[in-house]
Amino acid sequence: MKTPKSYPSWKALETHHMDMRDFSLREALTKEDRFKDFSLIMEDTLFDFSKHLVTPETIALLTDLAKESGVETMRKKMFSGEKINNTENRSVLHIACRAPKSEIINVDGENVIPFIHQVLDQIEKFTNSVRSGIHTGYTGKSITDIVNIGIGGSDLGPRYVVDALQDFCSGAKVHFVSNVDGQDISKTLEPLSPETTLFIIASKTFTTEETMMNAGVAKQWLLQTAPKSSVAQHFVAVSTNAAAVETFGIQKDNMFQFREWVGGRYSLWSAIGLSIALAIGFENFKALLNGARAMDEHFLNTPLNKNIPVLMGVLGVWYRNFYNYPAHMILPYDNRLGKIAKFTQQMDMESNGKAIDRNGHHVDYATGPIIFGEPGTDSQHSFMQWVHQSPTPVPADFILCKKPAHQLEQNHTSLTANFLAQTRALAIGQTLEEADGDSSRIFTGNRPTTSIIMRELTPYALGSLIAAYEHKVFVQGVIWNLNSFDQPGVELGKILAKPIKTMLEARIIHDDMDISTKKLAKFYMME
Ligand code: F6P
Repeated sequence: MKTPKSYPSWKALETHHMDMRDFSLREALTKEDRFKDFSLIMEDTLFDFSKHLVTPETIALLTDLAKESGVETMRKKMFSGEKINNTENRSVLHIACRAPKSEIINVDGENVIPFIHQVLDQIEKFTNSVRSGIHTGYTGKSITDIVNIGIGGSDLGPRYVVDALQDFCSGAKVHFVSNVDGQDISKTLEPLSPETTLFIIASKTFTTEETMMNAGVAKQWLLQTAPKSSVAQHFVAVSTNAAAVETFGIQKDNMFQFREWVGGRYSLWSAIGLSIALAIGFENFKALLNGARAMDEHFLNTPLNKNIPVLMGVLGVWYRNFYNYPAHMILPYDNRLGKIAKFTQQMDMESNGKAIDRNGHHVDYATGPIIFGEPGTDSQHSFMQWVHQSPTPVPADFILCKKPAHQLEQNHTSLTANFLAQTRALAIGQTLEEADGDSSRIFTGNRPTTSIIMRELTPYALGSLIAAYEHKVFVQGVIWNLNSFDQPGVELGKILAKPIKTMLEARIIHDDMDISTKKLAKFYMME
């Protein structure tokens, strides 16, 4: 039976973990070669792993674990279109969305690459026509506002990328509506004009309740002042479900397709990225894809011990399974990357937040960590107290761009100094002696971090960074023997919401509910 705990490398790591009891980062970081030995540069981005609780032996054992769990085999399967999403019998091909025209990836006997490029051409044409003012609203005015209505993977990726690439945005302003909470869409629509607003209804299934409800609200809002025929100019859809799109009233020509083999949380590279292309222009969208492709190639072709996503992945396993650390933090020292933790949280936690392995058995080891984070330096004035001194260490990624998009040099120097100081403090800590005998100011140190320094936040560099995280999650999923590409855990709540909604609408309490739910519903119904 394939279980990670049965691999020789897992057992060797258990022993090695005991041997590492006295490992001191403070001491390791006095060694001249430490940085050279544990840092990697990919194109313009530096990944420094020297502040981790590792020796060369740790890396060797962890890469053995990746090998023994079949990371290379699964990687090959994913890139060649094999159906590695076993519970849904689907290929996993977000990577195909950023592959060149010359690539061949077959799914059920069809090479999917021409389809991907056909959709890219459609995105290019539409993007150019909206951005140049050729595509107008029903009164002939140019589009000034674009509202992407979607949730989860149909929202978080584009929202994160558009925000991160704010300095590349031009033309119409892109807004995002996701929540079924009416506050979200009503506040977004309030300042907008139906004459100049374009809606993108982004939903893989085109059945998601939140998105469908908000799409209905948007249509009503438009039709309050505009004729029925205006829907064609003001609504486009991104989906795999052509029939449902048509039923909603969006014509075929206004639909951008993707296929079931792109998982929602991995879909920003597909037609789901339409809002990104509209915000930053098609050439910049292509650069984003190209950056991701460069990381795909690195992931595919680099030996495991020098492979950035593999190292990110195995280090996470090291801390999760051997140190028992429950979480992982992502701390961008760059406001533009403010949504990285939220996006990665879905991508990582919806992928590997599971307890049933690929063979249908309950695991007896820890799986995906809790992901959280906020931009520095704000985070330093909120939860970093806990990160430095709580008894529960949390590994973290610190991300910085060398070149900011503003001219405030002093601010950037200060930001960089804080970035360096935080990882240094977490690594080396502070002894009782250094704290002048004040025990409340002891910092244990030995708290591991990866420092990622990008030259500049370009679409290309961002694409590459996001792909690194995607592959990290992939590596971990393979080691934990999980299917990282389904999400059965979100289904139950959706199913249970239906009868409860009926109950609330009818204002009649159903007898078969549990006592707490009944009383809560009753309290809600009370005047
Ligand atoms: O949250 C569950 C989920 O299925 C995500 O995986 C997905 O990204 C999201 O809902 C939205 O789904 P859809 O794109 O089909 O509306």
